[in-house]
Amino acid sequence: MKLAVVGGGSTYTPELIDGFARLRDELPVTEIALVDPDPSRLELVSGMSRRMLAHAGHPARVLATSSVAEGVAGAQVVLFQLRVGGQAARNVDETLPLRCGCVGQETTGAGGLAKALRTVPVVLELAETVRREAPDAWIIDFTNPVGIVTRALLDAGHRAIGLCNVAIGFQRHFAEGLGVDPARLTLGHVGLNHLSWERAVYLDGRDVLPEIIERGGEEIAAALGLRLELIRRLGAVPSYYLRYFYAHDAVVSEQRAKPSRAAEVAEMERRLLEMYGDPSVVTKPELLAQRGGAFYSESAVALIASLLGDRGDTQVVNVRNRGTLPFLDDDAVIEVPAAITAAGAAPLPMPPVEPLYAGLIAHVSAYETLALEAARQGGADRVRDALLAHPLIGQDEIAEELTGLLLEANRAHLPWT
Ligand code: G6P
Ligand code: MN
Repeated sequence: MKLAVVGGGSTYTPELIDGFARLRDELPVTEIALVDPDPSRLELVSGMSRRMLAHAGHPARVLATSSVAEGVAGAQVVLFQLRVGGQAARNVDETLPLRCGCVGQETTGAGGLAKALRTVPVVLELAETVRREAPDAWIIDFTNPVGIVTRALLDAGHRAIGLCNVAIGFQRHFAEGLGVDPARLTLGHVGLNHLSWERAVYLDGRDVLPEIIERGGEEIAAALGLRLELIRRLGAVPSYYLRYFYAHDAVVSEQRAKPSRAAEVAEMERRLLEMYGDPSVVTKPELLAQRGGAFYSESAVALIASLLGDRGDTQVVNVRNRGTLPFLDDDAVIEVPAAITAAGAAPLPMPPVEPLYAGLIAHVSAYETLALEAARQGGADRVRDALLAHPLIGQDEIAEELTGLLLEANRAHLPWT
């Protein structure tokens, strides 16, 4: 089985390789194509990947190429994990909105919109090459903002599923706390990518979330930077991205007082690349654990194994709504548990969503619709509309100012500016 990773020169790739090596019984990969436009990164990361596989005794061949066509040709699965503009562009996403008193985050708010504008056209072009060279391949999109990018791919008729590690992170965390095998837990996960709540945690089919909150609520609240009272009142566990909403102003103050995450990550990447170039390093460096992408390889392996093996198990993915959340468009992309078979991901029915969540989900989903319009068609007016529609922005004068700032800062990545 050939698998291609577009953005294969990412410092995250060894995380993926580690998953393929550990979970080889689940997924017999014979060829891994790493595709990246940056030759020096590609050399370091592919060298590291080859050493890791050899060390694990894994037979897969690693192809490193800057040619998307060569990399994806004949692949059964293509992973997208790219970052247009690298950490430098991310740094702008995380700092520029702060000037207007808005959260600076790479996937939420104005930063997320800037990222969508840069990313959607690039991803759509890459996907056309996949359509030509590997027409039956599944595209698994880790590229943020995952909800918007996945919808762009689906609208263009690609076989795509969006994936994020937030849900699997919770599943593993709760399983550890309960001292049980993660396979026994399923999540009552609902919302959009990076805007989700766990409303239930089923252990062998019984909801144990009330007990989890009763016993571990304090620790959960502290880890999320939210008040225990909030978690108790919700009776649900919000993803850590909800802190940007529930504690927006506190986050802005914190962000103004410290270096951006992009700056931190750039420094980590420098050290990681140094290790990848060191022939004596043959296993995944500890430092990778400090990145946000924990367990992303395991979610990728599980999804691919179920798509190719027609397993029909339940996984949390980004898919078309199609009536699952009746208050959203059928075409909206949502992040929910779905049955994964060879035919793709089919969202499972779920209990009605309380207004407390439904309102915010609908609000952000409408923003995503406008953000995608702006990314596909360009134009300052469309960008302003998307900002105006975002619950964390919403004010005319701020939307106006951010539009100018954001377009100016991203000029090099936006052909229409
Ligand atoms: C989590 C999110 C990803 C995001 C990552 C950022 O894993 O689910 O979508 O890309 O965090 O991690 P980083 O280490 O780059 O801040
Ligand atoms: Mn994510």
